[in-house]
Amino acid sequence: MAKPQTRYVCQSCGASTAKWAGRCESCGAWNTIVEEQAESLAPKGQSAKGGRKIDFVDLAGASAEIPRAITGIAEFDRVCGGGLVPGSAILIGGDPGIGKSTLLLQVVARLATKGSTIYISGEEAIDQVRLRAKRLKVEGAQVALAAATSVRDILASLDGTDHKDVVVIDSIQTMYVDTLDSAPGTVAQVRASAQELIRLAKKRGFALFLVGHVTKEGVIAGPRVLEHMVDTVLYFEGERGHHFRILRAVKNRFGPTDEIGVFEMTDRGLSEVSNPSALFLAERRGDVSGAAVFAGMEGTRPVLVEVQALVAPSPFSTPRRQVVGWDSSRLAMITAVLDARCGVSLAGADVYLNVAGGLKVNEPAADLACAAALISSLTQTPVPTDTVVFGEIGLAGEVRQVSQTEARLKEAAKLGFSKAFLPRRRKQRGGDAPLELVEIDQLAELVQRLDGESTLRRKRA
Ligand code: TYD
Ligand code: MG
Repeated sequence: MAKPQTRYVCQSCGASTAKWAGRCESCGAWNTIVEEQAESLAPKGQSAKGGRKIDFVDLAGASAEIPRAITGIAEFDRVCGGGLVPGSAILIGGDPGIGKSTLLLQVVARLATKGSTIYISGEEAIDQVRLRAKRLKVEGAQVALAAATSVRDILASLDGTDHKDVVVIDSIQTMYVDTLDSAPGTVAQVRASAQELIRLAKKRGFALFLVGHVTKEGVIAGPRVLEHMVDTVLYFEGERGHHFRILRAVKNRFGPTDEIGVFEMTDRGLSEVSNPSALFLAERRGDVSGAAVFAGMEGTRPVLVEVQALVAPSPFSTPRRQVVGWDSSRLAMITAVLDARCGVSLAGADVYLNVAGGLKVNEPAADLACAAALISSLTQTPVPTDTVVFGEIGLAGEVRQVSQTEARLKEAAKLGFSKAFLPRRRKQRGGDAPLELVEIDQLAELVQRLDGESTLRRKRA
């Protein structure tokens, strides 16, 4: 028999070396290298023994349409690509306390009416989960509940003859396999536990949810190793001070990856928000300077949010640039373009930019809305309240086309907006636009429009 091979694996990046070292050569992290034993199936110079020959087939061939389990929670189903696929593994990551356990308990309670569901908690005692179920008013659901952390026990219990539809493991960081010495939560344990559970899910055909906590660096612990192993990766995000939460698909083998689901955390658990724009704009004050409504897209869905900016004289020699909910390097780019192409200087001023409500916007289409908020704050002139803004800004000061203009305009019209600042469109579509369109070709035109009193020009003079 081949001798087990010892290798040393970095717990932070997964790099493996033959020798132990205090510092990982590939990622530079200290004290992250741990010994692992691996036995090769096909040792050097030999071929694998006892393997079964696998059958190969053509690409063409009749495969049945994938049946999906629908939870009935529309925001959740859409993010999953239209329901759960049997035999798939879904990783759901997020900060501790954001509501992952709550969401999954609600999901399995819904699915329990249609099939057999199992919820295994490695973090909380049975009583705690029961208490939460009561609070969520789902205590009557036929969910099989267990508190366990040994993967061997879980496999033995799930590999029986009766069929399971959905299994939740909360969380993968608490699970351990007894063949490894390392503690639960280490890369080796997380990887080995997930591997065993996923293998069983494929074999038995149940949908497997793995809850994964996100570490400080914003990566699901077990440095991304899990993301490669599962079929779907969902992130559950939200700002601590806000009550709504966003479920975002970042990888999905069975659906699109740019969808979001919006939920609101209430005292009775998570409730769906089917009209997020109305929620994000609910606290808008209207006629104040430094705010612009951005008509954005999240996946297939248009979402309107308010972008707020504050430009104030800086007491510091290096002015502050603070951004919440947007990319700070894009803010730097926009202030540079405003300065170089439009003569609007923000030097010597602190700049704060905030996407109201806690949504994280990552579309370049938000450029124009951010610029509008900045100019509006600088000139202390409100952007007209009935106006939405979108468009990407180029380094030459040009305003560039963005995708899905029609959907953005339609949503804006639906929410009662009557005007839009948008990039010049290449070809005019037939039919009436639902609102008045102000096409902006150069950023300087926006400055002129918002600076009716010519504050900036007087300042410069
Ligand atoms: P939880 O699902 O335990 O988070 P995670 O599993 O991601 O760590 O959610 C915990 C938070 O949610 C906690 O701060 C309380 C809040 N919460 C409510 O506001 N309402 C509810 O009905 C429930 C069950 C939780
Ligand atoms: Mg939890």
